[in-house]
Amino acid sequence: MRIDILTLFPEMMTMFFQESIVCRAIKKGIAEVHFHNLHDYSLTRYGSVDDYPYGGSAGMVMAVEPLANCIEKLQAERHYDEVIYTAPDGELFSQQTANQLSLLENIIILCGHYKGIDERLREHFITREISIGDYVLSGGELAAAVISDAVIRILPGAIGDEQSALEDSFQDGLLAPPEYTRPPEFRGWRVPDILLSGNHAKIAQWRYEQAIQRTRERRPDLLKQSRN
Ligand code: ADE
Repeated sequence: MRIDILTLFPEMMTMFFQESIVCRAIKKGIAEVHFHNLHDYSLTRYGSVDDYPYGGSAGMVMAVEPLANCIEKLQAERHYDEVIYTAPDGELFSQQTANQLSLLENIIILCGHYKGIDERLREHFITREISIGDYVLSGGELAAAVISDAVIRILPGAIGDEQSALEDSFQDGLLAPPEYTRPPEFRGWRVPDILLSGNHAKIAQWRYEQAIQRTRERRPDLLKQSRN
């Protein structure tokens, strides 16, 4: 899978992709992430890509032409399945969206800034608008990193133990059950006996019950949406 990220701050972005599962997936050739500096598409001497909004409201708007030029240059090189714009008024990002995006071949993620982008870009280039939560960030870079991370980590082969991505919170509409590792006892706090029993069927049942209980306590809204 290939992700092209269009940003005003490519240096800020690169660090997110230099560690951990995402970095390993890139090194293994499972994912490619390319950054494009929108300043390189500026039509001005100063490298700016924003302008004053028509109608006189406060703030600046990312202009249509430099961003359109950048998107069209990429689209001339290959087909993109989605051109995503990160914005607080987009659809709320979820595990389900991450799963859908992970099936795609090539995607563009445009990071918004200032008051946002000229509406004509949204009408003519953007195919999907995604928000990572009901709060406003100073730019779309963190959102692009969140989306890329959630998508890349579930690509086949990205996580060594395939099963563990399937057991993530949200994958079956439930939060994940508690996990323990050695030692079996620390300061008198014992790992539940069932996990040490070696009875895989009983352990699976216990984990399922714990997941239901945790979801009921913390995110009852998820239970209403799922079949559990
Ligand atoms: N840009 C600013 N705020 C955002 C948010 N909540 N999600 C995605 N992109 C954003």
